[in-house]
Amino acid sequence: MLRRLSPEQPDHFEFTAANREWAEAQMTKFPEGRQASAVIPLLWRAQEQEGWLSRPAIETVAEMLGMAYIRVLEVATFYFMFQLHPVGQVANIQVCGTTTCMICGSGDLIRVCREKIAPTPHTVSADGKFSWEEVECLGACTNAPMVQIGKDFYEDLTAEKLSSLIDAIGAGQVPVPGPQNGRFSSEPVTGLTALTEVRSDDVELNASAARAVELHDTVRRIDGMEVPILTKWQRSPDQETPPNENDPKVQEEAERASDRAGEKGADEAATADEDRIKGEGERENEHFGSGPALTTDSQRARRPESLDNPREDSPTDDLKRINGVDAEVEKKLNGMGIWHFDQIAGWGPEELAWVDQNLEGFSGRASKDDWVGQAGKLGETEISPSDAKDDKTST
Ligand code: FES
Repeated sequence: MLRRLSPEQPDHFEFTAANREWAEAQMTKFPEGRQASAVIPLLWRAQEQEGWLSRPAIETVAEMLGMAYIRVLEVATFYFMFQLHPVGQVANIQVCGTTTCMICGSGDLIRVCREKIAPTPHTVSADGKFSWEEVECLGACTNAPMVQIGKDFYEDLTAEKLSSLIDAIGAGQVPVPGPQNGRFSSEPVTGLTALTEVRSDDVELNASAARAVELHDTVRRIDGMEVPILTKWQRSPDQETPPNENDPKVQEEAERASDRAGEKGADEAATADEDRIKGEGERENEHFGSGPALTTDSQRARRPESLDNPREDSPTDDLKRINGVDAEVEKKLNGMGIWHFDQIAGWGPEELAWVDQNLEGFSGRASKDDWVGQAGKLGETEISPSDAKDDKTST
């Protein structure tokens, strides 16, 4: 199966400050001169940040690891875990099309994807939510046909079941992974014929499906809403879908928040919520190893206050004096309503995160180059026109 880079590529890729820190920490796990061993984690983190792997991302990883670009390209194009094309905001459905799944009906699953998502693979659906592709054997042949969504397998599928899965995921639900035909795991469909006493009847899910439910990692939670894993890195805060009020989990969360508010007062409840979100971020992070929580920036990004035009009482500051801001970046900042050093110096972590995520083509640069600190210093040393006049007068 041909795996080629997308013909549409961004101009630039840059890890966010947090992801770069994490990536550099991964590189220290290996002896000096063996940093190439970190290639898969770094590519994976780049994909988690952007949703898919672009050529600039592959080149960035090659540069960080001191590898020839072609070597990293070989890795990225070999493994199906790496997406070489933009994917749907909600999920990319990977349909196994190898022998066992093909014999058991993967052709029907592909037909569903063609009808419900897009006529061709690696094409984002009209509503932007889904994409699909055919992949090689995913090692669940006894439960053929099957698909992988995010990190989890949905097995023993039929066309109707896959169609319902897509509808459910599109509606914000997270169906339980594993066999979809009532099978526990990969025992004969007609039931166990041996070792019948091994499994207790009160164990509902097999170890893999139970772990998937426990880790809750097929999708992630953002503000009480289930969001499939690949979407998180693609959405800007402005695009966040509001929580579905009819979703029982959202209702449950709202009730819990209301109870907390009643018991502790609104302020205390807000603090508790913040701690809970922080805790969830840290727990999620445990699944990925050390480094800052992945979800923090996305959860807490806020658009900085903007101005339609530069203030009249002071000239537009030359933002290019900030290291990392060139004419192109300055134009983008002005387009966001940022004209003055004091605006940048006033950004908190949430505003910085928003700029990091939304400065197209320069993601992560604001925190990497410490624009806030730089702008603070430049603002202090800037001589206002009136000061300049006074100076002239006094000399
Ligand atoms: S053939 Fe589909 S999982 Fe092996």
